[in-house]
Amino acid sequence: MASITETAKKLCEISQKAYLNPYTYINWRDEMPKEQWFMTPELISIFGTSEYEALNESQRQILSFYEATNFFSLNIHGEKSLVEGIAHRLYSKELKEFAAYLHHFLDEENKHMIYFGGFCQRYAGKVYRNRKMEIPREYAKGEEDFLFFARIMIFEELVDVYNIRMSTDEKLEPIARQINLVHHLEEARHLVFGRLIVEHLFEKYSPGWSAQVLQNCKSYLSNYIVSTWKEYYNPDVYADAGIADPYDMVEKAWNCESARKHRAKVSSKVVEFLKERKMIDEEPAL
Ligand SMILES: [Fe+2]
Ligand SMILES: [Fe+2]
Repeated sequence: MASITETAKKLCEISQKAYLNPYTYINWRDEMPKEQWFMTPELISIFGTSEYEALNESQRQILSFYEATNFFSLNIHGEKSLVEGIAHRLYSKELKEFAAYLHHFLDEENKHMIYFGGFCQRYAGKVYRNRKMEIPREYAKGEEDFLFFARIMIFEELVDVYNIRMSTDEKLEPIARQINLVHHLEEARHLVFGRLIVEHLFEKYSPGWSAQVLQNCKSYLSNYIVSTWKEYYNPDVYADAGIADPYDMVEKAWNCESARKHRAKVSSKVVEFLKERKMIDEEPAL
């Protein structure tokens, strides 16, 4: 317990020192030609398929623009529900000792949406719609908070692998690269806090749960990893990039062997974390 409180205090100090103005941090350009790389080719969702192979360089780059717009859009949707959930829990009895850090969390996620939304609105003229749904239900004591922070952690762990890779990819258009970099720098703190709060809540509440509640949590988290990945395969992106049969493309890209390996590799760290702490039993069906 001392360690999470101490860590949260340290993270607050770093967040204060590294405080950024999101309105001056990025030098937005007026025009954004699409024939440039916006997403690292190996991270494009259909990479490894024959359809990707059939595209010429400029078609791949245009696809990379819409893939980046989708990646930024899914970050916005994740952050919207995160901000909602954190604001709801701010100064709650269970989390009041972390309130100071939760303020930074809120502030930084709001800034991320300014970067992601700034790109999507300016250059794509839209944010792709949210395709994830949460169905309201009853929870055991502490279960809802645990699942909330576990969802954030899973989401942020996966995104961060992409951010790290793209922040150093020299091929990328500079604004796209810079957004990935700034996101990674701030997310590094969220991930430290995320892992600790997930462990803290699980240790505190799971001993009081029935076997059924525990089993439901495990299946929920496994499924959540899969549904998070599904968002990376967006038929609207394929349609915008001029790919025929966008829904078929989703199926093909999802089932492609190299994509399966890619998902397993990118997820391995967070899956290990969850397995070691018995928060999930099996590998998710990636
Ligand atoms: Fe973020
Ligand atoms: Fe974050």
